[in-house]
Amino acid sequence: MCKRLRLFHKFSLGAIFHTVPYIAGAQTMCKRLRLFHKFSLGAIITKYLDMIYYDKVTKVYPDKTVAIDGVSLGIEPKEFVTIVGQSGAGKTTLMKMLIAEEWPSDGAVYFESANIHRLSKRQMNKLRRRIGMVFQDYRLIPNKTIYENIAFAMEATGRNDREVAADVPHVLELVDLGHKIWNFPHELSGGERQRVAIARAIVTQPDVIIADEPTGNLDPTNTYEIIRILQKINELGTTVLLTTHNKGVVDTVKGRVITMDKGKVVKDDKNGKYIL
Ligand SMILES: Nc1ncnc2c1ncn2[C@@H]1O[C@H](COP(=O)(O)OP(=O)(O)OP(=O)(O)O)[C@@H](O)[C@H]1O
Ligand SMILES: [Mg+2]
Repeated sequence: MCKRLRLFHKFSLGAIFHTVPYIAGAQTMCKRLRLFHKFSLGAIITKYLDMIYYDKVTKVYPDKTVAIDGVSLGIEPKEFVTIVGQSGAGKTTLMKMLIAEEWPSDGAVYFESANIHRLSKRQMNKLRRRIGMVFQDYRLIPNKTIYENIAFAMEATGRNDREVAADVPHVLELVDLGHKIWNFPHELSGGERQRVAIARAIVTQPDVIIADEPTGNLDPTNTYEIIRILQKINELGTTVLLTTHNKGVVDTVKGRVITMDKGKVVKDDKNGKYIL
């Protein structure tokens, strides 16, 4: 927590509110405050209490496509949130904003009270290290072994050789792939590649995992295996944001489900269902 506070301590108001969710009763307080969201003071305070907060975000791409249309959304630490919606609903765009791969045309996105798109390059790099990404197409480096793929991600976040040698086998065991450590990605099945991608995302112990349609290319058995691993990671305290088209996935996770349609949040259900 000290580490987190250090990153944002220059925002004095943020630093004060940032400590609040970690004390008893604060989660209840978050909920109560959200009720008052329509009042401007409520809006100001909730964005300092949630881990991630989208504040009236709109994204219009240069070709005038409105990908996100006035979305306000708060995500608390340790939540497992599934974002569903048809192709083109804006799910990926929403996720990309968290790592500043896309910028809002209007509104703002906050991570622990700091406006993501106003962070310096150095602060942004720090934030990116706290967010692990898992993509539908795995994005492994083809000419590197599984060991090297994960080592590469660790080195990028400043881990030394000793840490790499200790942690890579360990994290591969967690996803049941210890025996594939010296294989190349093309020698693995789709489900195995995705498990490597998850291992790579969690090895740096991020606070948030963004899994953007991670099961899109997988059969039902591998899909449920990936969801099970994400749930396990979440139980260990990591916030998970999962996007999917797959109704079966939503029924399996049984957590909060946010439904998007044409760039808007049309449903936000604590124990959600996919009803599009
Ligand atoms: N770089 C871009 N330039 C222009 N339009 C874009 C760009 N990226 C996405 N879009 C458009 O923005 C809208 C939202 O796209 P986005 O990728 O966020 O949807 P999605 O919900 O993730 O869809 P899918 O389920 O197919 O992955 C779509 O209409 C898409 O065509
Ligand atoms: Mg997408």
